[in-house]
Amino acid sequence: MPESLSIVAYLIAGILFILSLAGLSAQESSRRGNLYGIIGMLLAVAVTVLSQGMHYGMLAVAVGVGGIIGVTLALRVQMTSMPELVAALHSFVGLSAVLVGFGSYLMPGTEGGTEQVIHEVEVFVGVFIGAVTFTGSVIAFGKLRGIVGSKPLLLPARHWLNSLLVIACVYLGWRFVGAEQADGVRSLGIQAGIAGLLGIHLVMGIGGADMPVVVSMLNSYSGWAAAAAGFMLSNDLLIITGALVGSSGAILSYIMCRAMNRSFISVILGGFGAEEGKKPARAAGEPEGEVVPIQATETADLLRDAKNVIIIPGYGMAVAHAQYPVYEIAEWLRKRGKNVRFAIHPVAGRLPGHMNVLLAEAKVPYDIVIEMEEINEDFPETDVAMVIGANDIVNPGALDDPSSPIYGMPVLEVWKAKTTIVMKRSMAAGYAGVENPLFYKENTRMLFGDAKKNVDAILTFLRSDAAAAAQ
Ligand code: TAP
Repeated sequence: MPESLSIVAYLIAGILFILSLAGLSAQESSRRGNLYGIIGMLLAVAVTVLSQGMHYGMLAVAVGVGGIIGVTLALRVQMTSMPELVAALHSFVGLSAVLVGFGSYLMPGTEGGTEQVIHEVEVFVGVFIGAVTFTGSVIAFGKLRGIVGSKPLLLPARHWLNSLLVIACVYLGWRFVGAEQADGVRSLGIQAGIAGLLGIHLVMGIGGADMPVVVSMLNSYSGWAAAAAGFMLSNDLLIITGALVGSSGAILSYIMCRAMNRSFISVILGGFGAEEGKKPARAAGEPEGEVVPIQATETADLLRDAKNVIIIPGYGMAVAHAQYPVYEIAEWLRKRGKNVRFAIHPVAGRLPGHMNVLLAEAKVPYDIVIEMEEINEDFPETDVAMVIGANDIVNPGALDDPSSPIYGMPVLEVWKAKTTIVMKRSMAAGYAGVENPLFYKENTRMLFGDAKKNVDAILTFLRSDAAAAAQ
């Protein structure tokens, strides 16, 4: 294939990737975004295959086997296990950056002079980022799977240890550039080993519960590793794609950290992270007020009498798979002229966009799914706020209790509604392990039990009352 044609094709693929990211940033356009990404990737692979002299038979076998494994995994994976799969995939990107580094260093025919020095620096940087990404992702996968203990490994002077490992890598890089090939391979190998240790240590220092943020950060690292591979192979498209993945991963991690009130810098450096707590941590003393339980039938009555309803889904809704009957309740109410909307917190659930995906799966229309910033001011005019399996994201202590561990995290202000119904199985804490004063507020009613069972029961009451009224 002529070089000019492949340059144009790469440019088109690059534009398709940018359009894909733009599309994926909003729910309405996400399918289109996905399609752009698929077309861009098909184009990129086809052009690369046609423009390089390759053994097509071997390539077909590799693509076939990889494709079958990928499709099987993607079809089987549960939404809640998605971070695990993403971590595993990032480890492949890291490992391939390391292999590309060694391959391109050993490739014969590299010219000497400045170009050679630049190429060797690219190899060194690519292998470094690739090795950190590879081992870091393997540990993140292990923690999410429960193979590796989720407790953070907090060695004494761990930040010094990390700095020492980085200094050792820089020293080996200095020795590597301009060295004889045999010495160069040795330095590069030792450097890859040390960078791998750094990846292990960085992620071991973070609690299992904070892994989703780490996975997003590793996503960013894998992008930079791919970009470095692009420099080594002089492949512009790989540089563009790597930079897009690297920067979007970093932006996503930043958004997640801000929404969880975590320090972005501590995530990058490793060594923050609380355990997923079941026992509530007390903030400033006992919360005032009483816990008032409610039954499904009374909840159905409240919903029937309401004009404005906001539903707040959280992690518990995902666990209970309650999104389908929740959608049916919303439709039942909407058909009777009620204003029903869903309020989405940016870190509800356990992965970015978790609730959006579940609601889309249940066919909830996009225009009634509203982000936190937009809907928060509507709670005072809301008759019923129905919290389904959410906890931390509706904790008023985050706004008014400076002693709360989640103080400063923006939350959905559900307690401002006339009545707030909270569905959960017990008084247990959520992910952050913090007591929630919402449960003790005067206008809060606790609907205890599995979210799916309760939502099903509410739906049955609503329907049976309507049927009785029609007779
Ligand atoms: P959580 O605060 O974890 O609360 C979920 C609640 O659901 C629990 O308190 C639990 O109470 C209840 N629950 C569990 N299973 C249930 C079931 N079958 N039926 C009914 N209720 C059930 O969830 P959230 O409010 O969605 O907040 C998300 C948390 O995860 C935040 O702290 C956030 O920072 C963190 N986080 C999010 C992300 C992303 S990107 N989304 C990433 C990392 C961390 P019971 O046990 O009493 O039922």
